[in-house]
Amino acid sequence: MWWNRLYSGWGFRYGVCIALLLSGCTKTGYVGTNTCLACHDGRSATDVRLHLEGKHAGISCETCHGPGALHVRNGGRGGLLIANPALQTFDDAVSLCAECHESQAEGFANTAHAFEKAAACHVCHDVHTPGGLNADRDENGFATTATFTALCSECHTEAEAEFQLSGHVASDAANCGSCHNLHAAGALRAPVETNAVCQQCHGGAVLGFDTEAAIDFHTGAFHPVDPAGTGASRCTGCHMPAVDRNGNFGAGFDHSLATIAPAATNDAIAAGALLPPANSCSGTTGCHDGINPAGGFHDPADMATNEQLQVLYESIGQIVN
Ligand code: HEC
Ligand code: HEC
Ligand code: HEC
Ligand code: HEC
Ligand code: HEC
Ligand code: HEC
Ligand code: HEC
Ligand code: HEC
Repeated sequence: MWWNRLYSGWGFRYGVCIALLLSGCTKTGYVGTNTCLACHDGRSATDVRLHLEGKHAGISCETCHGPGALHVRNGGRGGLLIANPALQTFDDAVSLCAECHESQAEGFANTAHAFEKAAACHVCHDVHTPGGLNADRDENGFATTATFTALCSECHTEAEAEFQLSGHVASDAANCGSCHNLHAAGALRAPVETNAVCQQCHGGAVLGFDTEAAIDFHTGAFHPVDPAGTGASRCTGCHMPAVDRNGNFGAGFDHSLATIAPAATNDAIAAGALLPPANSCSGTTGCHDGINPAGGFHDPADMATNEQLQVLYESIGQIVN
C-alpha cells in the first residue's frame, strides 16, 4: 500500500511527520492532478505538465505519490510531505511499477539489474513523459540507437566503447536493444546457446546463415552445428569471447563482435606481455583451453601452438554467398 512506500521512502528522517499523521494532528487526503499541476508547471516547482501527453496521463499523480493534501497545504515545502519513489528502497520503487506492469517486472527480476539492485525501473524510465523513457523513442514508438547510448553508456562504458568498433554501428544495423531486452531473463532478447540472438538477423539468406550447411561452411569442419551440445558453432563463442578486445579478462564480453586471431596473442607475447592474452580460440575462453574436453588444451603462452591455431583460424569465417 502507498503508506508502506511513504514510510520506507521517507524512512527515519521524516519519522516525525509520520508520527503527526498517525496521531491524527493533521488530516491527510487527495487533492487531484490539477492541483498538483498548479504548482508543478515549472514556475515554482518541477515542470511535469508533459505527464498529460504520455501513456500515464489517465493515472493521477497521487496513485504513485500518495495523497498530497499535506504537501499542498504546506505550499510544497521544498518537496517534503510527499512520497518520491526515487528516494525509496530499490524493492519498493520497483514494486510500485510492478502493480501495473507485471510481465515486465517478472522478466526484470531475472536480470543482473535486479539481482545487484543496479538499476530500478525509473533509472531508465521517466513516467511523466511521452514515450516513458529517459531518452527518445522514434515516430513508431521504438527506442533508437541514441536512446540506448544515452541510457546504457553511463554505466556500461566498456561494452559501449567496444560496440562502437563493430560494423553494426557504422551501418546502424543493430543497437543494444537488438540483442538486449531489459525485461527478460539475462536481459537477452533471445538465447545465446542456440544462436537465436544472432539469427534474429543473420538467419536469412542475405546474411548467409539460413541453413545448417551454411553455418557448417562458415565454422569449418571442426565446429559442426550443435546448438545444445559443445557450442562449437556458437556465434558468440568466437565473436564474443568473455574478454575485452585485447584479450584481457574482467571487462565482460567483447562487444566489437569481431573475432580475435591467435596471431594477436603471439604479437602481444612478442611485445613483452607477461600474461599472454586470450584469443577467440584459446586462453580460458571456454573452448581450446582444456575446459571443453572436445577442444583440447592449447596453452596460449606457447607461440608454436598459436601458429597452428592461426592456420585453422584462417580456414574458417567464409560465407556461402
Ligand atoms: C506512474 C507513477 C507516477 C505518476 C502517475 C506520477 N509520478 Fe511523479 N514520479 C514517479 C517516479 C517513479 C518518480 C521518481 C523518478 C523520477 O524522477 O522520474 C517521480 C518523481 C516526481 C517528481 C520529482 C522529479 C524530480 O526531477 O526530482 C515530481 C515533482 C513528480 N514526480 C510529480 C508528479 C506529478 C505532479 C504528477 C502528476 C501530474 C506525477 N508526478 C505523476 C512516478 C509517478
Ligand atoms: C503549492 C505548490 C505545490 C503543489 C500544489 C504541489 N507541489 Fe509538489 N512540490 C512543490 C515544491 C516547491 C517542491 C520542491 C521543488 C521541486 O522539487 O520542484 C515540490 C516537490 C515535489 C516532489 C519531489 C519530492 C522530493 O522528494 O524531492 C514531488 C514528488 C511532488 N512535489 C509531488 C507533488 C504532487 C503529487 C502534488 C499533488 C498532490 C504536488 N506535488 C503538489 C510545490 C507544490
Ligand atoms: C536498464 C534500463 C531499463 C530498466 C531498468 C527497465 N526498463 Fe523498461 N524499457 C527499457 C527500454 C529501453 C524500453 C524500450 C524497448 C524498445 O523500444 O524496444 C523499455 C520498455 C518498457 C515498457 C514498454 C513496453 C515494452 O515492454 O516495451 C514498459 C511497460 C516498461 N519498460 C516497464 C518497465 C518496468 C516496470 C521496469 C522495472 C520492473 C523496467 N521497465 C525496467 C529499459 C529499461
Ligand atoms: C496504476 C497503474 C500503473 C502504474 C503504477 C505504472 N504504470 Fe506504466 N503504464 C500504465 C498504463 C495503463 C500504460 C499504458 C499501456 C498501454 O498503452 O499499453 C503504461 C505505460 C507504460 C510505459 C510505456 C510508455 C509508452 O509511451 O509507450 C512505460 C515505459 C511504463 N508504463 C513504465 C512504468 C514505470 C517505470 C512505472 C513505475 C515507476 C509505471 N509504469 C507505473 C499503468 C501504470
Ligand atoms: C545505473 C547503472 C546501469 C544502467 C543505466 C544500465 N545498467 Fe546494465 N548493469 C548494471 C550493473 C551494475 C550490472 C551488473 C554487472 C554487470 O554485469 O556488468 C548490469 C548488468 C547488465 C547486463 C547483464 C544482465 C544479466 O542478467 O546478466 C546487461 C545485458 C545489461 N546490464 C545491459 C544494459 C543495457 C542494454 C542498458 C541500457 C538500456 C543498461 N544495462 C543500463 C548497471 C547499469
Ligand atoms: C539487428 C540485426 C542484427 C543482429 C541481431 C546481429 N547482426 Fe551481425 N550484422 C547485421 C547486419 C545487417 C550486418 C551487415 C551489415 C554491415 O556490417 O554493414 C551484420 C554484420 C556482421 C558482421 C560483419 C561486420 C563486422 O562487424 O565485422 C559480424 C562479424 C556479425 N554481424 C556478427 C554478429 C553476431 C556474432 C551477432 C550475435 C551476437 C550478430 N551479428 C547479431 C545485423 C545483425
Ligand atoms: C569457430 C569460430 C566461429 C564461429 C562459431 C562463428 N564464426 Fe563468424 N567468423 C569467424 C572468423 C574466423 C571470421 C573471419 C574474421 C576475419 O576475417 O577477421 C568470421 C567472420 C564472420 C562474418 C563476417 C564475414 C565477412 O565476409 O565479412 C560474419 C557476418 C560472421 N562471422 C557471422 C557469424 C555468425 C552469425 C555466426 C553464428 C551462426 C558465426 N559467425 C559463428 C569465426 C567464427
Ligand atoms: C549483437 C548483439 C548484441 C548487441 C548489439 C549488444 N549486446 Fe550486450 N551482450 C550480448 C550477448 C549475447 C551477451 C551475453 C554473452 C553471453 O552470455 O555469452 C551480452 C552481454 C552484455 C552485458 C553483460 C556482460 C558484459 O559484457 O559486461 C552487458 C553489460 C551488455 N551486454 C551491454 C550492452 C550494451 C550497453 C550494448 C550497446 C552499447 C550491447 N550490450 C549491445 C549481445 C549484444
